[in-house]
Formats: sequence, C-alpha cells, structure tokens
Amino acid sequence: MNIHLEVRRVDKIVIEGGRPLKGHVKIGGSKNATLPLMAASLLTEDKIVLTNVPKLYDVATMTRLLGVLGVQTTTILGRVALLAKKIKRHEAPYDLVRKMRASILVLGPLLARNGVARVSLPGGCAIGARPIDLHIKALEEMGANIKLEEGYVEASCERLKGAHINFSTVTVTGTENIMMAAVLAQGTTVLENAAREPEIVDLADLLIKMGARIQGAGTDVITIEGVDKLHGATHRVICDRIEAGTYMIAAAMTRGDLTIDDIEPKFVEALGKKLQEAGARVEVIGRSVRVQGPKKILPTRVMTEPYPGFATDFQAQFMALMTIAEGISTITETIFENRYMHVPELMRMGADLKVEGNTVTVHGVERLQSAPVMASDLRASASLVLAGLVAKGVTDIHRVYHIDRGYESIEKKLRKVGARVKRARVRY
Ligand code: UD1
Repeated sequence: MNIHLEVRRVDKIVIEGGRPLKGHVKIGGSKNATLPLMAASLLTEDKIVLTNVPKLYDVATMTRLLGVLGVQTTTILGRVALLAKKIKRHEAPYDLVRKMRASILVLGPLLARNGVARVSLPGGCAIGARPIDLHIKALEEMGANIKLEEGYVEASCERLKGAHINFSTVTVTGTENIMMAAVLAQGTTVLENAAREPEIVDLADLLIKMGARIQGAGTDVITIEGVDKLHGATHRVICDRIEAGTYMIAAAMTRGDLTIDDIEPKFVEALGKKLQEAGARVEVIGRSVRVQGPKKILPTRVMTEPYPGFATDFQAQFMALMTIAEGISTITETIFENRYMHVPELMRMGADLKVEGNTVTVHGVERLQSAPVMASDLRASASLVLAGLVAKGVTDIHRVYHIDRGYESIEKKLRKVGARVKRARVRY
C-alpha cells in the first residue's frame, strides 16, 4: 500500500523568556481601519489611494476578495491604490469569507453601488457566534430585499433609501457597513447607538474626501445624507491602537521601558489607565507613549467595553499581564461570548485562572513556565507571545498565522527591543 504523507510546513514562534524590553517600537497602520477603507473603494469608479497600509494577512485577504469583485489593486510598500472601474462579480465566496469575517464589509458598498450582492455567511468563529443580523436588519430598513440561501446572504435593491436605524448592540463593522451603504442612498440615514471607535472616524474621513456627507462620526449618532456619486481620494490610515497597546502591555509585563512611537495617545487612554493601576509608569510624549514596567505588578479589575472603554481586543493580552500580578485580579468580557480561548493555553504555562460565566479570576503566580502552546485567534496569540516573553525557558507558539493576520513583523520588532525571539519552520 502506498501511503502518501503530506508534509505541511508552518511557522512557529520561539521565545526565550526573561528579558526586559527596552527602546522604541514603531507602530504601523491600523488593520481594522484598513479593511473598511479598502472596501470603500467599491463605492466609486475612481481611484482610491491608501497610505500607511500594514503588511498583514487580513489585508492580503481583502485584496484578494476585492480582486474577485473586479477591483484592481496596486501595492507599493505601504501604499495601496484601488480602482473599481466596474464591478465584475457581486459574490464574496465562502473560501475568502471564512478566512476573515471582516469580508462582510463588502456587503454594504456592493449593494449601494451595484444594487445586488451575494456574501457568504461568516459562520461561527473562535470567539463566539458573532452574528451579522444587525447588518442585515439595517439594510432591510433601507429597502434591501434580503434572503439567506445556501449559506449566503443574497441582497438586492433598486436604490437604497435613507432610514432611521437604531442598533440594539454597538457593532463596529455593522456601523461601517451601513455607513458605506448610506452614502449612496436616496435621502438621509441616521445611525443611533453607532460604534464610536477611531476606525469609524477614519472611514468617515475617507468617505467625506470622496464626496460623502457625514456628520457625527465618533459619537453614537451618525447622520449621512446620501449623494448620487462619489469620486477618488487619497487617505493615510490611522495607527493601529491594538498593536500599540500590545507593546505597551509587553513593556509593563517584562518590567521594561518601551516608547511606542507614531501613535495617537488618546486611542490607548483606557489601557494606559489600567496599566497605571497595575503599577506601570505611563507617559505621553507628543505622538509617543512611554511605558515603564513596575517592580511589583499590581492586581486590577478589568471589564471590556466599546470604545472609549477598555477594548475587548486587549483582554487576552491584559490577562497575560495579570497572571504575574501580586494578588487576585478579575477580567470580565462583555463584548464577545467565549473569548477565552487563551485561558487553557496560559494555564499550560502555569497561570492560575478560573472562568466563571464571562469573568475570569486570575490568581497571580510568581513566574510563568515555558510550554508548547497554540494560537487560536489573533489577540489570543498575542497574549501567548507576551506570556512567552516572561516565562522561564523556551516557549514554542504554534499556528502563528493567526498573529500574522494582525501584527506586522512582530518578531523583528520584539528583537529590536531586546527580546530573544525567532520564527522557525515546523514540519508535520
Ligand atoms: C470589530 C473588530 C474586532 C473587535 C470588535 C469589537 C474589525 C475588523 N474587527 O469586530 O477586532 O474585537 O469590533 O470591538 O473591525 N453583534 C450582533 N449582531 C451583529 C453584529 C454584531 O449580535 O449583526 C454582536 C457581536 O456578536 C458582539 C458585538 O455585537 O457580541 C460586537 O461585535 P462587533 O462590534 O460587530 O464586532 P466586529 O465588527 O465583528
């Protein structure tokens, strides 16, 4: 019998823990801003140029998806030019959507420009059910006909009509999708209980440059007056506040001294306050934030909230910090159910964690121990990297592709500030 064994080569990250991180880290463009900004290119036949675009898997996935729909993309370093002269296809296939839930962001603009869209349902994912019912309900309120067929959302309309939409839950991509649908709709759309994240403001800024009429982005009521046509524009993507915050936590956790450069300090204010509660020194210097780790990490209570509250995208990383605090901390996740995939992995490294409902009680331990661990989602993987940076011994983190979805050159940036970290190939 001839058994063919497939050899799969994937990357792992190998970290030797125990070195304080010191120096400067430069932060790149925001992933969560880039994805909707790219999707906005579907709204015009003119060229959209984005600068400060990070080099990440999710950006590559969005480029592929837009390519399927007929958008020509040219990328030179961090500059991406997108040209959607004609929409050639109106379907976002399952294979791409399953890789990245944010693919749903093409639904609103496709429908607004083309009057028809077919987008695969994203399905469940590692951090809970994450439905898209609010996107669908809002588009229906704007006059779209929507059917769910064979795992796809099939939407069509003549021209979308302005509507008064009240989101029952704050949804970031939901707000972005409907904002993009409303800019070409007939009449005025009011979004209530809209998300206030900086990425929403960034999208509104680009859309306004393209000729859209939007007021209130950054508050919980956004008013959009539809226009007939949008035109090309050039836009610089805002900094990645989640990448920045992850390095801020790394500074505190390794008892190091990092200056995080090229950021908007107010984007990471809530995190900065919690790091100060944990004993770190946090100092804003122009467009940089300096974080000095404390000798003794103090326990804290954290609850995730929509912006400007403590971001759910920091929850896993902050938990890693609390695993070595002197005392008992609690972390409550209010945005996503089941966003605790990192808990069993951190426990394999010696963390003392107890999950009860949506709260995790963390009994700080003196030191984490290295262990082979597995990344399960983007931010969970970042928490394992942080844990590896302080653990005794050498930690192998598998399934690194999750990290590459959202952190550009993470091992290079960490090495530059003193970490012993490398990427290695694993053969199965
Ligand atoms: C975005 C971010 C993600 C971040 C999250 C919360 C992007 C690409 N991703 O994800 O990094 O963790 O915001 O800040 O920007 N919900 C519904 N129905 C819907 C939509 C959402 O019930 O139709 C619920 C979700 O299940 C969740 C909550 O609303 O409980 C917030 O989710 P949402 O803000 O939509 O998250 P994303 O936009 O997917």
